[in-house]
Amino acid sequence: MHTNQTKLCWQQTTTTTTMTDRTSGSGSGGGDSGGGADEKRGSSGTQVVLPRSSLPGERRVIRFRTHFVNTVVDVMTHLGWQQVQGQEEWDMNWCDVGWVREAFDGRQLPDHARVPHFPTHYELTRKDHMAKNVKKMKRKLEREEGKAAAKRCDFMPETFWLPHDYRMFVEEFKRKPGTVWIMKPVGSAQGKGIFLVSKLSELMEFKRDTRFDHQQRDDERQQAYIVQRYLQRPYLIGGKKFDLRIYILVTSYNPLCFWLYREGFARFSGAPFSMEDLSNAFVHLTNVAIQKQAADYDKSKGCKWLMSQVKRYLQARHGRAAVQKFLRDVDNIILTSLEAVQPVMFSDKHCFELYGFDILIDADLKPWLIEVNASPSLTADTASDYRFKYGMLEDMFTVINIDDRRVGDEVRVGGFDLVWNDGPVHRPNPFNPADKSTPNSNLGGSLLDRKENLLHIHKRATEKLQAKQPS
Ligand SMILES: Nc1ncnc2c1ncn2[C@@H]1O[C@H](COP(=O)(O)OP(=O)(O)O)[C@@H](O)[C@H]1O
Ligand SMILES: [Mg+2]
Repeated sequence: MHTNQTKLCWQQTTTTTTMTDRTSGSGSGGGDSGGGADEKRGSSGTQVVLPRSSLPGERRVIRFRTHFVNTVVDVMTHLGWQQVQGQEEWDMNWCDVGWVREAFDGRQLPDHARVPHFPTHYELTRKDHMAKNVKKMKRKLEREEGKAAAKRCDFMPETFWLPHDYRMFVEEFKRKPGTVWIMKPVGSAQGKGIFLVSKLSELMEFKRDTRFDHQQRDDERQQAYIVQRYLQRPYLIGGKKFDLRIYILVTSYNPLCFWLYREGFARFSGAPFSMEDLSNAFVHLTNVAIQKQAADYDKSKGCKWLMSQVKRYLQARHGRAAVQKFLRDVDNIILTSLEAVQPVMFSDKHCFELYGFDILIDADLKPWLIEVNASPSLTADTASDYRFKYGMLEDMFTVINIDDRRVGDEVRVGGFDLVWNDGPVHRPNPFNPADKSTPNSNLGGSLLDRKENLLHIHKRATEKLQAKQPS
């Protein structure tokens, strides 16, 4: 273990270049570009060329505003939307998370206008806020429904906010000798500033750093840290650690309404896992931004598997029942964390958010929530990665439905399944409409019929518009 702060932190400074020079430029969110997804298996990755409109007079032209140059602009342009600049009126303001308040600009937005973040997004996406909100929910459940009910909040490794919880952390540290802890800046991403500690002396050294000063003003405290129990027995594939990136689209917090994308990624570290060297980022951090810096990183292979591939692997090793239980545990993490922030999330009807959930699996096949990203990387650097993200965004805009692309009662849109709509949504059973036995979440599920699904949705939407037209 290194002995000074500079060495302890794993910094990374690379910038991303992409196949179409589509860089995200946001600096936010958990970057995950880094290809390697198997193109043949990437059924989600196919671009579906939907007719823009069968009734040109009926669908208004959507005006979008953005400063990004990435996949999302390609999708909006392809949908036939027009980019506007400066102070011009807009219908979709694809802004950075830091600009969401400015997007409203004190104006009364038209009903159909959309902004891709909630103003209090940080309640979920800042590591310290998320931990506090989940703890708060646990206490509430304990009070109101008892200890057993509160167990559904036990999906985050123990987390303390520094410097605020320092004393509590020291007590916990002493109570659990031999535990390794991970220090993470609360508002950072892509593995920046993260390091592991196994001795209190390492933390004391860090504590001397000015950033740890109680006297600092809040705006100077941007570098506040959380310290979290390090998961020392991660699930390994081929001896390597990985985490999962799962995409969730929240269209409303009040009532809670969210969709889960079937496909996602596992992001692998390049070096075999071991607890020998705690300072080796290539072993312990699965961020693509970190792994890309390894001398032996193979750009053509990347470091990702598709979610469907992971699911098949787990099913082959552990059987269907164990994987179903694992998937229901993942469902619980997503629902509970969203419910935990629901009371503090400002749910404006113009807002939606595509989140990237980072989930780590341990050796007992238990999923743990590591963090939630507000702006998951939409940058792509291989053709298959680009197609995957393009397809997901195309589906996302169909769900958002700013341009009447769907009727509105769908529970599946391309790769997105409606999981919660002010209550659980159940997977339709064509043979028994009363069957409510299966939740409508389908992580790792098939996307082979995505195109048919989207065309069917488009057909219904067109018929609806035609029916409205005066004959
Ligand atoms: N508690 C933990 N136990 C094991 N590994 C962790 C833990 N927290 C984070 N990691 C590893 O560190 C990586 C970065 O952590 P994360 O919280 O996602 O920060 P960032 O915002 O910088 O991506 C994760 O992708 C994971 O590989
Ligand atoms: Mg992360």
